[in-house]
Amino acid sequence: MHKFIIKILSIISLLFLIACGDKNSHDQKLALGGEIYNSLCKSCHQAGEKGPNLYSIKLETESIINVVANGVGNMPSFKTLLTEEEMENVAYFILNNK
Ligand code: HEC
Repeated sequence: MHKFIIKILSIISLLFLIACGDKNSHDQKLALGGEIYNSLCKSCHQAGEKGPNLYSIKLETESIINVVANGVGNMPSFKTLLTEEEMENVAYFILNNK
């Protein structure tokens, strides 16, 4: 009986750890993506002056990464400035910072 309770408790704490891990990576991606957005994207996209307001676009992560990597129209490519992971973070920020 004791063993059973210990097992249940360890399963619960494991689930708790997994849930917290998810939250941490969410916060982390949001923070890293936000830094990149503020330093590289905001100047053009903030007011929707030079580029469209990114918070109202309807794009998937993959398409955002593609635009950032290759540029589009008057928007420059960021391939040499950002790693794949950084592009992913900034896409995550755009899609989740609502
Ligand atoms: C020099 C100004 C400039 C900078 C800096 C810039 N953009 Fe852009 N961006 C634009 C312009 C202009 C467009 C519209 C291009 C077109 O459609 O002709 C655009 C379009 C986009 C689009 C496509 C929107 C859509 O609806 O298709 C995304 C996504 C995007 N930018 C993300 C970013 C991100 C992320 C960054 C920072 C890493 C960034 N941009 C930095 C000017 C800029």
